[in-house]
Amino acid sequence: MPDHAHTRRIKIFDTTLRDGEQAPGCSMNPQEKLEVARYLEKLGVDVMEAGFPASSPGDLESVRAIAGIIRDCSVAGLCRSLEKDIDAAREALAKAAQPRVHIFLATSPIHMEYKLRMSADQVVERAAAAVGYAKKFCSDVEFSAEDASRSDPDFVCRVFGEVILAGASTLNIPDTTGYALPDEFGRLVEYIKAHTPGAEKAAFSVHVHNDLGLAVANSLAAIQNGADQVECTINGIGERAGNASLEEIVMALRVRRELLRADTRIDTTQLYNASRLVSKVTGVKVQPNKAIVGDNAFAHEAGIHQHGVLANRATYEIMTPESVGIPKNRMVLGKHSGRHAFEDRLKDLGLSTDAATLETVFAEFKNLADRKKVVSDRDIEALVMGASAAVPETWTLEHWAVNTSDALGASGVIRLRHKDGEARKVIALGDGPIDSIFKAINQIIGREPDLELYELGAITGGSTAQGETMVKIGLDGRRWNGHGVSTDVVESSIKAYIAAVNAMEWELAGGGGSGASAAGNR
Ligand code: KIV
Ligand code: ZN
Repeated sequence: MPDHAHTRRIKIFDTTLRDGEQAPGCSMNPQEKLEVARYLEKLGVDVMEAGFPASSPGDLESVRAIAGIIRDCSVAGLCRSLEKDIDAAREALAKAAQPRVHIFLATSPIHMEYKLRMSADQVVERAAAAVGYAKKFCSDVEFSAEDASRSDPDFVCRVFGEVILAGASTLNIPDTTGYALPDEFGRLVEYIKAHTPGAEKAAFSVHVHNDLGLAVANSLAAIQNGADQVECTINGIGERAGNASLEEIVMALRVRRELLRADTRIDTTQLYNASRLVSKVTGVKVQPNKAIVGDNAFAHEAGIHQHGVLANRATYEIMTPESVGIPKNRMVLGKHSGRHAFEDRLKDLGLSTDAATLETVFAEFKNLADRKKVVSDRDIEALVMGASAAVPETWTLEHWAVNTSDALGASGVIRLRHKDGEARKVIALGDGPIDSIFKAINQIIGREPDLELYELGAITGGSTAQGETMVKIGLDGRRWNGHGVSTDVVESSIKAYIAAVNAMEWELAGGGGSGASAAGNR
């Protein structure tokens, strides 16, 4: 039986909106950040790092908007150890119910010498001064010793001792480069906790990157050695190989609670939807074999496994799909399903839509059900994802046709309507159907963005499966995502491209923040 009296509560510090968002290809626009922030609150994170306010006016505004609506957890803003960064965080967090200022400064020899060009004494002095400055207006100050795993542990203890005196209440030990091994990192945490003067007055945190694929293992080792808080991201997105994955840490603690004697307050039944939401807004797909939330995480293919699972699920499942929010196989929806059944399914899937979007999605569902015998939950998710485009449409698809051949290339013709009412039709030649039709679209819009990513997949299997396309386009250093779904793969590609184009047009017209995304489904 679990011994709850001895189960420590570990705080989850989510940094999807900061370390996750700063990773290549993971940018989100302000509406998307708000959507993710609301979901993180529902998930039950203890702290969400909403951004790095001094890094850009857009980031400051996003942190401000998030701080204005989130009530049930702390909202943190990241700062270098500079007064101007801390002033920006103060402004951004002014309306937060539970503000946290997160200050960092590197403590490793290589960072101090080559990046900061500061002596050890200067680092100690700067860190303490920054924490003291923030403490004047915020009672909750976290300090991170960047690159701690490659720092002299005694020096980290010295810096931590000084920042505690200056008012820091959480001390973070980052494995910034993902260099540490679990045993070693666990011992480091234990050592620093034992040798930091005044350690009993602070909580200890870890923040681990995944360069060697050890981020979750290192975070768990840290918890076993006394860490009170772990910093992580949904789907493990983050700089380079990413950060520790929130869902993996949380489920390791839940499933092995008796051994680890630690747990979190996360509502694990929201993990799957949180993962899908982050994948949707970033345009970054979750790998099928990803632990906890990947498409195959609960799929049993081998006959011997299937036989075991049918007899008793626990033969090959250490947790249930329902415990992470993957819906049970339920009644299939098809062309005879009514609006009630459809709305109920949306509710079960945790997909909320406004009344107008519901109309569109239901009509789409009926169309799809005519072409496909069985409409799966993933199909429905894709429909909702497509209908809830985050930006208004500058261009709407009317008609298209492609002609393709083995040796003579392809031609594509497309008609788009501009929001001002004018329709334009262009024909273009290309290396294949997608190339020709994208070229035709570029001629209509009068721009030539780079196609940085084009990914085509199928939702569920079979020849009637819907094609799902993700594209990322770039222009002058800015990027936009688009997502499109259709039973025709050329059409799903066109929809995705137009969705990205609409996000681009909207932002270039002054509508979006950094890196918008959109979806095309109609
Ligand atoms: O990886 C890192 O060290 C960081 C710090 C700012 C906490 O992201
Ligand atoms: Zn980091």
